[in-house]
Amino acid sequence: MKKVGIIGCGTIGYQIARSIDNRSISSTRLSFIVDSSLDRLEFTKSSLKNDKPKAFSDQDLLFHSEAYKSTDVVIESASRVAVRQYARHILADGKYLIIFSVGELVDEIFMKELESEAVKHTGVIHIPTGAIAGIDAIKSVRNHLDQLTISTTKSPKSLAGAPYFDIYENIRLHELTDRTVLYEGDVRRAVELFPSNVNVFASLALATGNISKIRVRIVVDPNIKVNRHEINVKGEFGSLEIVASNVPHRENPRTSTLAVLSAIEAVRSACNETIKIGS
Ligand SMILES: NC(=O)c1ccc[n+]([C@@H]2O[C@H](COP(=O)([O-])OP(=O)(O)OC[C@H]3O[C@@H](n4cnc5c(N)ncnc54)[C@H](O)[C@@H]3O)[C@@H](O)[C@H]2O)c1
Repeated sequence: MKKVGIIGCGTIGYQIARSIDNRSISSTRLSFIVDSSLDRLEFTKSSLKNDKPKAFSDQDLLFHSEAYKSTDVVIESASRVAVRQYARHILADGKYLIIFSVGELVDEIFMKELESEAVKHTGVIHIPTGAIAGIDAIKSVRNHLDQLTISTTKSPKSLAGAPYFDIYENIRLHELTDRTVLYEGDVRRAVELFPSNVNVFASLALATGNISKIRVRIVVDPNIKVNRHEINVKGEFGSLEIVASNVPHRENPRTSTLAVLSAIEAVRSACNETIKIGS
């Protein structure tokens, strides 16, 4: 039986909590939940029927609690800020940490620090597949690829609020009538301009181990109903074309339904996988 703690009880964290509580993910129990919103903590707690996790909105209280100390697997499903706040400590305690706010890991110095804490204290950093597919194949060919391009197309609603629109004030997102390319370039700048939308770019960068080989295109389409990611990889091995057309989650249009399903599968495989499928 694995004890699981969740940091961030929004769209992803709430669904994981429910899946553990209703035993869709077997052999797991919820030990704690964290959220900066007390309302969200209350809402999550009140929707659980079996488990009685301790609830925290304060980092120090969490780290000193018995509920935290006895936890095996921690899920970060909150924000990039939360990755900074919590990840190092959790890995230094030798725990298994699943990180969803992957954009923060594009900072190579920070990522190296986390990795070295994990190695020193036998912790694990697990970066789930999230809203795309094909990470297994991309990892397999990472030392043999010439270039990887990802083109992400989303609706104005899914991109709204990004810092990009503070810089390019002339682009009036909700007045666009045609499909428009907003950005083409490298991953780091994409992460700065669209911080809430770039987890897939960051996951690809980590999977390839070479951020400079990735080209990113971000497109807005007022007529699209899905979040669409098209990935093309070329190299001496041949080529890969991977397309994910994801229905946005009803609670949060920036998060795809596939990401929520991937999150549940990531916890299942972290907690009780006897047969491993895929590389
Ligand atoms: N890897 C992927 O493919 C992928 C896909 C979708 C979302 N994400 C990322 O996963 C994270 C969660 O996504 P979501 O859709 O569930 O978001 P959400 O906004 O629905 O929920 C986030 C929750 O975390 C809480 N929170 C935020 N910062 C916090 C902090 N510092 N401390 C404590 N609580 C905090 C919020 O109050 C909120 O309840 C986001 O960072 C998102 O960008 C990753």
